[in-house]
Amino acid sequence: MSTPLPLRIAPSILAANFAKLGQEVADVTAAGADWIHLDVMDGHFVPNISFGPDVIKALRPHTDAIFDCHLMIAPADPYLEAFAKAGCDIITVHAEAGPHLHRSLQSIRAMGLKAGVSLNPATPLSVLDHVMDDIDLLLIMSVNPGFGGQKYIPAMTDKIRAARALIGDRLIELEVDGGVTAQNAGEIVAAGANALVAGSAIFKGDGVEDYRKTINLIRNAVSGH
Ligand code: DX5
Ligand code: ZN
Repeated sequence: MSTPLPLRIAPSILAANFAKLGQEVADVTAAGADWIHLDVMDGHFVPNISFGPDVIKALRPHTDAIFDCHLMIAPADPYLEAFAKAGCDIITVHAEAGPHLHRSLQSIRAMGLKAGVSLNPATPLSVLDHVMDDIDLLLIMSVNPGFGGQKYIPAMTDKIRAARALIGDRLIELEVDGGVTAQNAGEIVAAGANALVAGSAIFKGDGVEDYRKTINLIRNAVSGH
């Protein structure tokens, strides 16, 4: 089953040069990124710490691209407003991060933003059974969250296929995050994903031309799927 939604390439700045993040965001946008993927980690829900709303706010003037914010924090609810005010367009929370998923999603939408849910590799799709009308995006983690540069978990391709079937005709973005490269992007999109996060694959280069090359490689790899 294929998606009516367009392909979105979402570079994760987790793998960018943090000493010049504003420039990195501008460069990757010029290189053809559709979304900027923002990985927020708290050293509690995941075993790593990245950046928070003040950094995102400082980046906002450097691109017009959609800010796709992936919260790997627990609890998330007390911080949702800060991330909205920082300029995020989509806020994704983890289903495993708190007991009140539906409330988190409601809060995000109430601020006029798109609401996403992310699932760790071991979390079944059935946790979504009663929130399908409350989400705009489903993020399937294809690595265990916390670090960039990990290998794609092959069993996630079946999960993506099942997620696509679950979404059916709904206009829900199906995003995949972790270990995405030009080599496996075709398989991931063929399984039904339309939004691809890529950190190390894109930012292993340096500057607009390198980023454009990788983004185009990924686009070419999925064309025809
Ligand atoms: C992992 C993050 C990912 C990660 C992707 O916790 O959510 O967005 O940075 O990085 P790569 O593409 O290097 O696996
Ligand atoms: Zn992410």
